[in-house]
Amino acid sequence: MVSYSLAAVLSLISTAVATLKGQTIAVGGNTYYVPPTSVTVLHLKGHHLSSQGGLVPLTVIKSDSWKLTNTAIQGLVDVYQTTDDVFNTGFLENIYITYNGTHKKPSLELSLPSVWKNQFLGHVAAYGSGSTECTKSIPPGPYFLDPATGAVFEAYRLYSDVMGSFTDGLIAVGDGSYDVLPASLQGYASLTIGVPSRLYFTKTAEQPLAGVRLGVKDLYDIKGIKTGCGNRAYYDLYPPANATGPAIQSLINAGAVIVGKMKTSQFANGETATADWVDYHSPFNARGDGYQDPSSSSSGPGSGIGAYPWLDIAIGSDTGGSIRNPSQVNGCFGNRPSWNLVSLDNVMAMSPLLDTAGFLTRDASLWQTASEVLYATAGLKSYTNYPKAIKTIGFPTTASTEAYGILIDFVSSLSTFLGGANVSALDYDDLWAATKPPTVPANETLDTLLNLTYPILITKQQYPLVGAALYRDYAAANGGRKPFIDPVPLSRWNWGLEYPDSQLTTEIENKDIFTKWWNSTVQVFNEETCSDSLILYVGTAASPTYRNVYRSMPGIPTGFSAARIANIAGVPDMVVPVGEALYNSTITLQGEYLPVAVDIIAPHGCDLMVLNLVNELVDRGIVKEPATGSSMYSNGTTYY
Ligand SMILES: *[C@@H]1O[C@H](CO)[C@@H](O)[C@H](O)[C@H]1NC(C)=O
Ligand SMILES: *[C@@H]1O[C@H](CO)[C@@H](O)[C@H](O)[C@H]1NC(C)=O
Ligand SMILES: *[C@@H]1O[C@H](CO)[C@@H](O)[C@H](O)[C@H]1NC(C)=O
Ligand SMILES: *[C@@H]1O[C@H](CO)[C@@H](O)[C@H](O)[C@H]1NC(C)=O
Ligand SMILES: *[C@@H]1O[C@H](CO)[C@@H](O)[C@H](O)[C@H]1NC(C)=O
Ligand SMILES: *[C@@H]1O[C@H](CO)[C@@H](O)[C@H](O)[C@H]1NC(C)=O
Ligand SMILES: *[C@@H]1O[C@H](CO)[C@@H](O)[C@H](O)[C@H]1NC(C)=O
Ligand SMILES: *[C@@H]1O[C@H](CO)[C@@H](O)[C@H](O)[C@H]1NC(C)=O
Repeated sequence: MVSYSLAAVLSLISTAVATLKGQTIAVGGNTYYVPPTSVTVLHLKGHHLSSQGGLVPLTVIKSDSWKLTNTAIQGLVDVYQTTDDVFNTGFLENIYITYNGTHKKPSLELSLPSVWKNQFLGHVAAYGSGSTECTKSIPPGPYFLDPATGAVFEAYRLYSDVMGSFTDGLIAVGDGSYDVLPASLQGYASLTIGVPSRLYFTKTAEQPLAGVRLGVKDLYDIKGIKTGCGNRAYYDLYPPANATGPAIQSLINAGAVIVGKMKTSQFANGETATADWVDYHSPFNARGDGYQDPSSSSSGPGSGIGAYPWLDIAIGSDTGGSIRNPSQVNGCFGNRPSWNLVSLDNVMAMSPLLDTAGFLTRDASLWQTASEVLYATAGLKSYTNYPKAIKTIGFPTTASTEAYGILIDFVSSLSTFLGGANVSALDYDDLWAATKPPTVPANETLDTLLNLTYPILITKQQYPLVGAALYRDYAAANGGRKPFIDPVPLSRWNWGLEYPDSQLTTEIENKDIFTKWWNSTVQVFNEETCSDSLILYVGTAASPTYRNVYRSMPGIPTGFSAARIANIAGVPDMVVPVGEALYNSTITLQGEYLPVAVDIIAPHGCDLMVLNLVNELVDRGIVKEPATGSSMYSNGTTYY
């Protein structure tokens, strides 16, 4: 028999604090998360609401019509329904009208439809009357009301992360830190993500991202949340981040709502679905048959943006293609920005000389706004005159496939848009042979000079910053044991360790030689248009990469190609989806569509010029913004 002393029990009681983490409620067929803290309190004079069943749905309607008629109210409700996925008519069970017009007192001529149950809770009187019926004015939208106290809570609609794009659903807890969303829905062994009503937010000059739903690649620290970097040992070992880094903080300050952390391939190394993904399963790519590789390393961001209409934008990172490749194959816009535009403090490093932070999104104008926020401290100039020369690398010359036809048509439309820009093929190897710096040996090609530059930089910089630190800390915490590392990062780190540190110095010199040559000879800054040219290469031409294929052992990413230009020269490289083409799926045994994308390269600091250009191309209908699902331009079907 065990007996406890009274003193011990008392001390347990005095230290144990129960914390309400919110609750979930179903309304109109959707499930909602209700945070524990109320946003205002209504004074429910004379209203007899039953408080038996806990919280009740509530719609706050904001109107400046002097005559509050049924038609005026119904008009607003229609707007709420079409602009907000969180609102549904189930919230009309109770309505509360806020009048924000200029008359002293609005005229109420309401006989509300019976489906709304006529639980009309009154209204806030006109400006200057001094009469309010709630402690704090709140925006319109769907809410939950506690009839007993009048407390009003926000509604977060829950969505199942059916593509496995996320690593945690997040909710802000109000003190600058975040918590994991304590809610779950049915769906494919998936996480659940909560999104607040779009009606709560109004974009302003100070908060141009107000209410924008943002997913964050899980290598950015967010205060209160563990950073996993795609490795289980790393996730387990380190405590939740005690600070949010400046890049993410700038987006929060501009009003972005972080809805979750998103999957990265391990330590941001390029992993191919499925065998390389040992610690976590690669997310699904919604395009085509649903069984295409989402690419990496910003796999979660690419997957989520290609699949979820409720997710507006995601921030990824690009060291050697980690934003561009997932943007291409998941069918969205994505930018590797100019290097060094924003602080990467509190972000896992791969190669500080190559690492960049950029976005993946379906919305070109949001892409631009978010970039202006993220890169604000770099003071980029916004050019609206564009280069009059287009140079293409490795572009098809005949429309022998549907994708090639789309690529050729795009270049032609772009040339016309630019007022008849000269289109020419760029052979950078030939140009190098003719113009390379005299200090470089005559037999050195770009392929030989830069063969090891990328793999040496990423391995010899990431290993001491991440790998060695993890080995040391893990061993100290686990009796000298070594942590599990996925085959791709492990083989790369081990390969890099075989080279002396002097090789890193050599490769940094090679990088510098290439950068100077590139920006003085190949693509040159221009006062009026930022760049003398737009350099285009093929991002993707709708060729399938199935995820159910057994591939070879991981290799070292040696070599040089068009996709390496931006990494090494530190210049921006923007992915623009330009169409989709049919392939015959070996999964569905049907023709399915995969994205066709073009990459646009510009000189360092010309990011906003390209973003302005892409937005004009969208306005002219030359580029069509993609939707989610199997087809970029269809109805949102996703195949499982
Ligand atoms: C009243 O609020 C609505 C919704 O926020 C807004 O669209 C409208 O402009 C406001 N009217 C005035 C007069 O402030
Ligand atoms: C936050 O954590 C870092 C390392 O994890 C540590 O160096 C730093 O002192 C911590 N800061 C605070 C304010 O606790
Ligand atoms: C087009 O560009 C090519 C390659 O730079 C150049 O040789 C040619 O003169 C240009 N044509 C015109 C009309 O500018
Ligand atoms: C270039 O020639 C030199 C001298 O013959 C030789 O040492 C070097 O390995 C060669 N480099 C390449 C890339 O072939
Ligand atoms: C690049 O490096 C790899 C690995 O060392 C080597 O096998 C390959 O021949 C090199 N290629 C060139 C063009 O130097
Ligand atoms: C060109 O590259 C060199 C070397 O990295 C750099 O110092 C210079 O600022 C670059 N110039 C432009 C216009 O990007
Ligand atoms: C798909 O298969 C059909 C029938 O075999 C063929 O005619 C068509 O060219 C194929 N399409 C592609 C894109 O391969
Ligand atoms: C939706 O799109 C898919 C794929 O393009 C098509 O098979 C299906 O018939 C469409 N459904 C409707 C209702 O339009």
